Amino acid sequence: MGDINTVGIVGSGIMGSGLVEVAARSGFEVVVRSRSKQGADAVVAGVTKNLDKQIAKGKLDEAERDAVLARITATDHLGHLAGCDLVIESIVEDLATKRELFAELEQIVKADGILATNTSTLPVVEMAVATQRPDRVCGIHFFNPAPMMKLVEVVRPLTASDDTIKSAMAFATACGKDAIEVTDRAGFVVNALLFPYLNNAVRMLEQGTASKEDIDTAMQGGCNFPMGPLALLDLVGLDTSLSILDALYAEFGDPNYAAVPTLRRLVAAGHLGRKTKQGFYQY
Ligand SMILES: NC(=O)c1ccc[n+]([C@@H]2O[C@H](COP(=O)([O-])OP(=O)(O)OC[C@H]3O[C@@H](n4cnc5c(N)ncnc54)[C@H](O)[C@@H]3O)[C@@H](O)[C@H]2O)c1
Repeated sequence: MGDINTVGIVGSGIMGSGLVEVAARSGFEVVVRSRSKQGADAVVAGVTKNLDKQIAKGKLDEAERDAVLARITATDHLGHLAGCDLVIESIVEDLATKRELFAELEQIVKADGILATNTSTLPVVEMAVATQRPDRVCGIHFFNPAPMMKLVEVVRPLTASDDTIKSAMAFATACGKDAIEVTDRAGFVVNALLFPYLNNAVRMLEQGTASKEDIDTAMQGGCNFPMGPLALLDLVGLDTSLSILDALYAEFGDPNYAAVPTLRRLVAAGHLGRKTKQGFYQY
């Protein structure tokens, strides 16, 4: 598998869990680190449940499931990431928190290890310069749900070496994904194009143009999208979506990126979408 054999995943949320599953199923040794051991163990339990579903569908056998699970180590210690060839962080979308983590990873992960972020919008270069190895830092942006979605955006900050980008592209390809290379601009390709649409769907709901169900039905039936914009916001997470819009607005100043009040109020109320079982819809 080239120069990457062991992959560390930091964060046990929606995306961290998906990344663990993708990497372990693709044959990589995986160390998943959460702030609590329970959080890390919950990721393994979630992956086990997904693999069992695949067995029930006849797409996987028990020996394959056991082999995938045997490749995953769950921990609450950052120190267990020391030997990783690549570490991908997928913690909360907050630059200060991510920079702090990169500074810690710098001290722990072997000198030639690649440190990557799964950020949706934040400037990757800001994380790179929080380390002593900015040439070994890049973005590897998976989509949600990671096991299903084909695309990975490999993000090249000004500081990254060609070798780092080449390894990141090879890793994404080894995970069975279609990898594209993109420069370090907020939202990269997909979210920079997607989020004005999602934000304007919430605006349309605020203006009473149509009900939430009808807005979603319209975009499914009228554009052949697999899900409507409000259901998609609930899937992404409303807090993550708000952070993405704020980062896009901060970078480009385009009013289409200025989060509409309803989104901000839902987040303030703790209605974060599927993960809290309440967002635009109830789950
Ligand atoms: N949700 C999506 O659709 C999506 C898609 C692609 C990329 N991303 C990116 O992935 C990253 C994680 O998003 P998510 O949707 O998995 O979020 P999430 O809310 O499901 O998970 C966030 C994780 O961060 C941890 N965390 C929170 N505060 C922390 C702190 N101070 N220090 C360390 N860990 C902390 C939480 O315990 C949790 O494990 C973000 O950078 C996000 O932009 C999200």
